[in-house]
Amino acid sequence: MSSSYLESLNREQGEAVSHFEGPILVLAGAGSGKTRVLTTRIAQLIHEHGIPADRILAVTFTNKAAREMQDRILSLLGAEPTGLWAGTFHAIGARILRRHAPILGWTHTFTIFNAEQSRRAIKKATEAVGLDSRQWSPKAIQAHISGAKDELIGPDQFIEENADSFDPFARNVAMVYPAYQESLKTQNAFDFDDLLVKPVHLFEANAQILDFYRDRFEFLLIDEYQDTNRAQFRFVELLASQHRNLMVVGDDDQSIYGWRGADIRNILDFEDAFPGARVVRLEQNYRSTDVILAAANAVISENLDRKDKTLRTNRVGGERITLAAASGETDEARWIGDQIEDRLVSDPVLTYADVAILYRTNAQSRALEDAFRRRG
Ligand SMILES: Nc1ncnc2c1ncn2[C@@H]1O[C@H](COP(=O)(O)OP(=O)(O)OP(=O)(O)O)[C@@H](O)[C@H]1O
Ligand SMILES: [Mg+2]
Repeated sequence: MSSSYLESLNREQGEAVSHFEGPILVLAGAGSGKTRVLTTRIAQLIHEHGIPADRILAVTFTNKAAREMQDRILSLLGAEPTGLWAGTFHAIGARILRRHAPILGWTHTFTIFNAEQSRRAIKKATEAVGLDSRQWSPKAIQAHISGAKDELIGPDQFIEENADSFDPFARNVAMVYPAYQESLKTQNAFDFDDLLVKPVHLFEANAQILDFYRDRFEFLLIDEYQDTNRAQFRFVELLASQHRNLMVVGDDDQSIYGWRGADIRNILDFEDAFPGARVVRLEQNYRSTDVILAAANAVISENLDRKDKTLRTNRVGGERITLAAASGETDEARWIGDQIEDRLVSDPVLTYADVAILYRTNAQSRALEDAFRRRG
């Protein structure tokens, strides 16, 4: 294979892809080719620089992004590179734990609890420490424990900080958390958060194991970096600290996981954590027209914690954006219904399948469903 795939990149993308050693932050907006850059660089490392695939670790946040990454690497290289580790943080964490669980006191055949199973274990632990699980919702306790794990706060530290709290809920969580953690161990199970937290513990407590992975993964690439939490950041930091060949790709304006512990500081502080990091901005968007981008830029520029960047596109024109004010959700749903019907009548090529409606929370679908049902 030649490096012809480089020709289909714009200048900034090419710069990021050809970057070889040292830390690099690729800061880019939506649809600007971040994932394309990351996957092309992997191909470049393997083909141009002769880096064995098993020296590369590529991580992302969601299963969807991980699949997309794997598919693109496959189509760039034409074959599955052997030994390449590419997957979500959770999948990579589970893989490491499978190998070393006994050191932590679990066996190789541990189970991974899903949210439902872990909620049940929390309910039992709540009752075991003498609390009424109807009064203290296991779901709320679970969210709180999960938040603590995101921040790498273990039971001991949590007790220290909350056992004497004025807040009765925090005091209760301080009782349930250690009991829950103990019950996971007795059941030879990890919950989802443990898949991130436990590898960090493993590395921090076992220099030999850390050295092994640190040495093995000469190149680390992280997609969707804006969505990483404290635990994930620590995981990456530990692994990258020897070779320092770390590429992170992310959009500080696109962090959608703030509510689940994603730490925007990870991206804003990347240059502090990895001094000398090169920064490349991708500002060319390939998905949207200039009308859409102008509106997006105007909204995004109001964000407080952000790196300065402005998206641009070659796709000019497109329909103007309409802003409509409605007197309530029923009124709004009726207006949306009218718009759709008018469109389908005036443009017979369109069908309902060409229409999408976005809303912020699930609860908002109610008024829309009612309006559409009324129309048949
Ligand atoms: N240089 C380019 N020339 C033509 N098309 C491109 C180029 N770079 C990216 N694209 C296309 O733009 C689209 C978005 O690319 P990609 O998914 O890599 O962006 P992204 O920044 O990762 O998006 P997201 O914000 O959704 O994660 C894809 O269809 C991709 O093929
Ligand atoms: Mg992407």
